Amino acid sequence: MEQNTQLSEKDIHLLQDTIKKVSSYDFSDYSYNSFYRRIEKILTDEGITFDSLLTNLQKDYNYLDKVVRNITVNTTELFRDPETWYSVRKAVELNFARQKSINIWHAGCSNGLEVYSFMILLSEMNLLEKATIYASDINQTVLNTAMSGKYKYHEINEYLENFDKALNQNEDMKKSYPSVEIKNYMEINKFKDFVRMKDFLIEKPLFIKHDLVSCKNIFAHNFDIILCRNVLIYFNHNLQNKVLSFFYDNLTTKGCLIIGRHEGIIGPIASNFSKQGTIYFRRNSY
Ligand SMILES: C[S@@+](CC[C@H](N)C(=O)[O-])C[C@H]1O[C@@H](n2cnc3c(N)ncnc32)[C@H](O)[C@@H]1O
Repeated sequence: MEQNTQLSEKDIHLLQDTIKKVSSYDFSDYSYNSFYRRIEKILTDEGITFDSLLTNLQKDYNYLDKVVRNITVNTTELFRDPETWYSVRKAVELNFARQKSINIWHAGCSNGLEVYSFMILLSEMNLLEKATIYASDINQTVLNTAMSGKYKYHEINEYLENFDKALNQNEDMKKSYPSVEIKNYMEINKFKDFVRMKDFLIEKPLFIKHDLVSCKNIFAHNFDIILCRNVLIYFNHNLQNKVLSFFYDNLTTKGCLIIGRHEGIIGPIASNFSKQGTIYFRRNSY
């Protein structure tokens, strides 16, 4: 096994430039520390030197794809941060429920658990039918899982209790939706080790590969709700601003952006939004 030495800032920039040169990916504006840690992990896991990593990236596109998959962090959950979904429900009820249609985009959707969570909530609110749902990620492997709607039970069972926390254990939520049954939405088989979403959920969204760095709207319309949770934290301030201003431009006048529970919008761009918890409404949108 080859030895891995400490990486310098120059190494990191050389790597980012190399990836940019040989592919359509551009990690130059990812958070330096997070990018550094991911590369360090790749070198340690594979037991290769930085020079070998550079060489492999340039001669083998499949290898590059694997590295890109390893650079992106795909952690997600069913009804992640259950209390967020109370605010999401209120925001939808107050602002979008009476519209003829609701356009939703999950940007950085990982393996789709967030998308299925929102669809379940919308279904309980009798709004699923009028929702158009797009979900995208830079990583095709997680998108394939999202499209299949099938998960390993042992990998997601710890998140199943979020379902109850988000839908059945909040007094306010209980008033409107008494006892939501998980079996209406997914088949759970502990022994065969799978959880499979129901077909009506799997068939609903359009899952598509999309790189947020491009700041291109490939969907040809604006969105009432954009969810981009736990993605911006992997970008540096410059890229965060670029993407936030892209979201702003692609929200409807009443539209809102939902980011992660531990994320916030800071700097001049913050004045474009009015904040309600983790939900940011396009300013002057009322
Ligand atoms: C930590 S996961 C968050 C998933 C989900 N939104 C949630 O909060 O549970 C971050 C996701 O962002 C995706 N991602 C990272 N960079 C991206 C980019 N430039 N464009 C689109 N997606 C990206 C990753 O592949 C990963 O699936």
